[in-house]
Amino acid sequence: MPNSHFNQLLESAKFESIQYLDNCDNLPVFPSDEALKLLQMFNEALPTDQNNPLETLKKLADIGSQTTVKHGGSRYFGFVNGGILPIGIAARWLADTWDQNAALSVMSPIAAKLEEVCQQWLIQLLHLPPSSKMGLVGGTSVATLCGLAAARNHQYKKLNWDINERGLADAPRLRIIMGDQTHGTVTKMVRLLGFGSQSIELVASDDQGRIMVDCLPEIDGSCILILQAGNVCSGSFDDFSALCSIANQSGAWTHIDGAFGLWAAASAQLKHLTVGMELADSWSVDGHKTLNTPYDCGVILCKHPDAITEALHQQGSYIDYSKTRDNMVYTPDMSRRARGIDLWACMHHLGENGIATLMNKLHEGAKYLAEHLNAIGYVVLNEIHFNQLIIHAGSEELTRQVLKRIQTSGVIWCGSATWKGQFIIRLSVCSWQTNEKDLAKAVEAFKTALR
Ligand SMILES: Cc1ncc(COP(=O)(O)O)c(C=O)c1O
Repeated sequence: MPNSHFNQLLESAKFESIQYLDNCDNLPVFPSDEALKLLQMFNEALPTDQNNPLETLKKLADIGSQTTVKHGGSRYFGFVNGGILPIGIAARWLADTWDQNAALSVMSPIAAKLEEVCQQWLIQLLHLPPSSKMGLVGGTSVATLCGLAAARNHQYKKLNWDINERGLADAPRLRIIMGDQTHGTVTKMVRLLGFGSQSIELVASDDQGRIMVDCLPEIDGSCILILQAGNVCSGSFDDFSALCSIANQSGAWTHIDGAFGLWAAASAQLKHLTVGMELADSWSVDGHKTLNTPYDCGVILCKHPDAITEALHQQGSYIDYSKTRDNMVYTPDMSRRARGIDLWACMHHLGENGIATLMNKLHEGAKYLAEHLNAIGYVVLNEIHFNQLIIHAGSEELTRQVLKRIQTSGVIWCGSATWKGQFIIRLSVCSWQTNEKDLAKAVEAFKTALR
């Protein structure tokens, strides 16, 4: 393709993107049934011949822009998806244009360098042990897989069992201890690692979803304890000081799933939630949730470099490891995009204070919603620990009706869950764009729905 065509294509993508952003506020947060019918237009056979790329892009823009869910807008309160910082989009565009494979330093020195810088910044920002190593994966699910793979390696090594050589068949049993409110992705990763659900011992949680420390079973060096920084419904945090101390005394490995909540450690106002988390062995968190980086930014941090690299390294005569950093030794994958570039750009742009301000803003937003929704008749079930809110409207029937009206209103969007056996509406304040006007609109939408 000649350069002039390439330029035209990028100009066209820029034009369509800006049009979308300009229009975003006027479009329903969730596409209407009418708009969703447009998706049928993708039901076509694979073209036999090449199409003009401008036409391909136009088709995508025309249908796609009308059928998106507006996560990037300011009134999406559904899943903890987070918005996207403009610097994140811009840096990702640039990085995609550079087409860097981040696996090895020799493939992309800049991707290796910026991941090393992000690692250092995260250790500083989240107050983690200086020995910690960082890997970047698609999301917290896979980051948790990496943390648990490192844990498995480390714990088996202590039991004189080389898991890489001997595998799980006939291996001594490891016990997985976690709260009964642990996120479903953790259970999935425990299963993927071959432990089986039967290895899991669930610990009872309190009314906020926090592990009850007194209910922790006897643990020892054959255990992996999994804690949570940010319950996906209530936003609550486990008592890291107490639980990590017990784990450390007994030789258990502690992993903290902090998909959206770990960032609270970056704010002086919210840091009380994460006290003691530095005593854990590994942590998983997303850039793309509360930090608002582009998607595809899961972060694994592990205090024990040997444990994570022994679990995730690979051989190959053609693999040219460098003397500095090779990103692929901290992740299961080899080829991947240079997601560290947009993570670096977001952190560089916001700085320490900007990140703290963003986390505080999300917290303030959730507090605003709790106060105002309560004032118009909704029952708020959780303390506002961070950015999550769970409510109901009285009876289950009424709560379901309200939710349906909210979801079809186009004004805002939020979802539901079952909390301690009760049907609830779940709200997450997780976009940098959400301001008081948006929050007021959300309250108004709830008021109208209740009427
Ligand atoms: C507490 C918690 N853990 C794990 C996940 C999964 O993260 P991801 O979707 O990035 O894989 C989520 C998603 O919301 C979460 O809230």
